[in-house]
Amino acid sequence: MWPGGPVLICAILVLAGCDGPQSVLAPGGEDAFVLANLFWFLLAGAVVLWCAMNGLMFYVTRINPRELSERGAQALILWGGIAFPTVVLAGLLFYALSIMPEQRAEGDGGLRVEVTGEQWWWRVAYWPEGADEPIISANEVRLPAGSRSEITLEADKVIHSFWVPSLGGKSDMIPGRTNRMSLAPTVPGLYRGQCAEYCGESHAKMAFTAEVLTPEDFAAWLDAEAGPAVPPDTALAREGRAAFFAEGCGACHAIRGTPAHGRVGPDLTHLASRATLAAGTLPMTGEALARWITAPESVKPGALMPGYDHLPPERIAAMAAYLEGLE
Ligand code: CUA
Repeated sequence: MWPGGPVLICAILVLAGCDGPQSVLAPGGEDAFVLANLFWFLLAGAVVLWCAMNGLMFYVTRINPRELSERGAQALILWGGIAFPTVVLAGLLFYALSIMPEQRAEGDGGLRVEVTGEQWWWRVAYWPEGADEPIISANEVRLPAGSRSEITLEADKVIHSFWVPSLGGKSDMIPGRTNRMSLAPTVPGLYRGQCAEYCGESHAKMAFTAEVLTPEDFAAWLDAEAGPAVPPDTALAREGRAAFFAEGCGACHAIRGTPAHGRVGPDLTHLASRATLAAGTLPMTGEALARWITAPESVKPGALMPGYDHLPPERIAAMAAYLEGLE
């Protein structure tokens, strides 16, 4: 069998998995399109080079050295071994360099999203144009399609890296400095981001959802997000609200419209609107919330949040019912 056959089959199988909400090869924004094109361009260049070099090697092993003049051998080395790879590799290099300015484009001034890497979750603050105060959320980034939003990146204690493969390149988040990037999503949908720099024992459990909305839906969502939390109106949820404050949860978490103003942990204001819990680790359900409150350590080793396994399960279920319903 042709030796390249298995390689080609493996490559096709691997690339067949490159779809879904967290793939560089399934772009949903301008920057990601550029990067996906770069990938295909580099792959094509590498395939051309690989085929040419293999062809040359194959040819060299088949010819009778006595039939090849000294000039012929020199020409083979000069053109096949040096000139051709240099031209192909230089072409790839210049193409890659030429797209770098695009990757550093500034936002169009409409929206700035400030994302801070915490251990191990994401603090997210939206600054619409002209805003004096940010709208705080956590563990999800929502962006309007059709405009270029500025993303400013910070970190609390250790280095993290912000990456939504379907929307653009990644950028490090470094304590004590602010890194800037911009994203111009074009295709509304739900994408997934992931911390891309090892940041401690739960680095792998530091994901987030990135949702791209149409400009109208985004404006409506931001409007709702800016408002106070609307708690669920059930007896269980009221009991849960009382338990939440009695246990002192408001010292670490904020819920707008309530006395909870803590800044240590994620803001919980409109928790019900988020797709996941604990930075992409659990689904947003009452059961998952109860599990998280009972023993965060079992879900996310090293998490700062203390466990409440000393409380009766009914009390935790009530707290979960309250939080799960925060619209
Ligand atoms: Cu944060 Cu890895």
